[in-house]
Amino acid sequence: MAFERVGVVGLGTMGAGIAEVFARAGLRVLGVEADAEALARGRSLLEKSTARALDKGRLTAQEREAILGRVTLTTSREDLREADLVVEAIPEHLELKLRLFADLDRICKPETVLATNTSSLPVTAIAAATGRPGRVVGLHFFNPAPVMRLVEVVRTVLSDPGVVGAVEGLAERLGKTAVTVGDRAGFVANRLLLPYLNHAAVLLELGVATRDGIDAVMRQGAGLPMGPFELLDLIGLDTAYEIMEVLYDETRDRRHAPSPLLRELVTAGRLGRKSQGGFYTGEPPQPQDARSSGVRTFDVAGPGADELAGRLDAAGFKRSGEAADVVLRLGDRPVVEHAVRLRDPAKLVGVRLHGDRVAELAVTALTSQEAVAAASDLMKVLGITPVPCKDRAGFVADALLLPYLNDAVRMYDAGYASVADIDTAMRLGCGYPAGPFETLEAMGLERVRDGLRALYAEYREPAFAPAPLLDQLVVAGASAFPRS
Ligand SMILES: NC(=O)c1ccc[n+]([C@@H]2O[C@H](COP(=O)([O-])OP(=O)(O)OC[C@H]3O[C@@H](n4cnc5c(N)ncnc54)[C@H](O)[C@@H]3O)[C@@H](O)[C@H]2O)c1
Repeated sequence: MAFERVGVVGLGTMGAGIAEVFARAGLRVLGVEADAEALARGRSLLEKSTARALDKGRLTAQEREAILGRVTLTTSREDLREADLVVEAIPEHLELKLRLFADLDRICKPETVLATNTSSLPVTAIAAATGRPGRVVGLHFFNPAPVMRLVEVVRTVLSDPGVVGAVEGLAERLGKTAVTVGDRAGFVANRLLLPYLNHAAVLLELGVATRDGIDAVMRQGAGLPMGPFELLDLIGLDTAYEIMEVLYDETRDRRHAPSPLLRELVTAGRLGRKSQGGFYTGEPPQPQDARSSGVRTFDVAGPGADELAGRLDAAGFKRSGEAADVVLRLGDRPVVEHAVRLRDPAKLVGVRLHGDRVAELAVTALTSQEAVAAASDLMKVLGITPVPCKDRAGFVADALLLPYLNDAVRMYDAGYASVADIDTAMRLGCGYPAGPFETLEAMGLERVRDGLRALYAEYREPAFAPAPLLDQLVVAGASAFPRS
């Protein structure tokens, strides 16, 4: 099954990029748009994207000409008759896609493979709208398609294995890494990413920490390329909302129900970068004024206390026991039990350090504003970003990270995708520095299991209970997941 002539229907954000990817790999591309105006927009997207590549030295002028020369644009769907493969990238509405696929089935020769770039709609339903369900697959590119290396190939129970194999081969020819999975809402990357983003919105709404605090912890503490609210603004809150709805429809897991805050912002037209802002509206960052609290003395306890005391001492602060301005308690667990043992519980602030970059400051129901300000100043003096948060299990980082890792374990244990494929999907599809299993193994299976137990005990959310497989591996003393 050779793919030489390919069609792309819909030349918006994704379609124009997908057409470019095919043309770069030497395939002849027929791009189809709804009308002349949209076609002109599609052409300009292609021209701009290849011009950028030329500017950056990633393409020569000759290569660019050749790429553009391989793309023919039309508003006539009927021209797709002889295509070997057609990839659909029209808006994410099932009705629209079903109508298009029925039409493509009528137009295209019987051997043509039909693929959808849908992020969340059921590929099986789209396949069933045609008389060739065995030749219909999902081919899910990531944005921007010419840059992102992952494609998720989605096979349904109706897909012909030969077709799936041929599409995987094509992905390789395009220079992409294919991860092949079954037809479940969100596939791998969105299924793991979106619930995490939604959970961040829930924590914001619960007042566990601020928007900037949560973003700072996930960027500087967990090492992700962006904080969840920055990423939501990039993806588009409406898009995220729609995917959450589809996930929820399939799973009925309440964590997949879009957070009320997300709904409110979408209704208000705050969709992210594409509108007048989403979570961020372009306001200038708050000035970070170190030492405004006038803190002079501190005490500190917990693992690593002496080292932190040494650094604060070197910075000119005095360790002076319980009478100090603020009492720090290092660790990654809630600290209120330590607070109540002090003569003045209002002085206690929990501190979870993430390297030398960021510190979550756990604020109990008894902590005074003065103590929070003092602890923040001490961190700033050491060059560490302070992030005050409520004294809850997992604070911010673990509350967001551990359920995501647990979801990955459950996904693997359900036989949906391999450990390697899940890691690859998150690294290449979301730009994470490591996949969830790599992160889990680096953190230590037992620590993750115990952190999940603590989260479960506090929030009583069934999905936070450690996946049985994770628990078993810990009991068995394993430090890694099976990768065969
Ligand atoms: N935007 C992303 O980050 C992203 C990532 C992966 C997958 N996807 C999926 O890709 C698909 C397209 O998303 P997008 O963001 O590119 O949307 P978009 O709105 O940017 O582009 C859709 C294009 O389809 C065209 N179109 C609409 N009806 C058409 C028809 N009947 N015939 C031909 N063209 C038609 C529109 O004119 C528009 O140019 C969706 O299924 C989406 O879920 C999007």
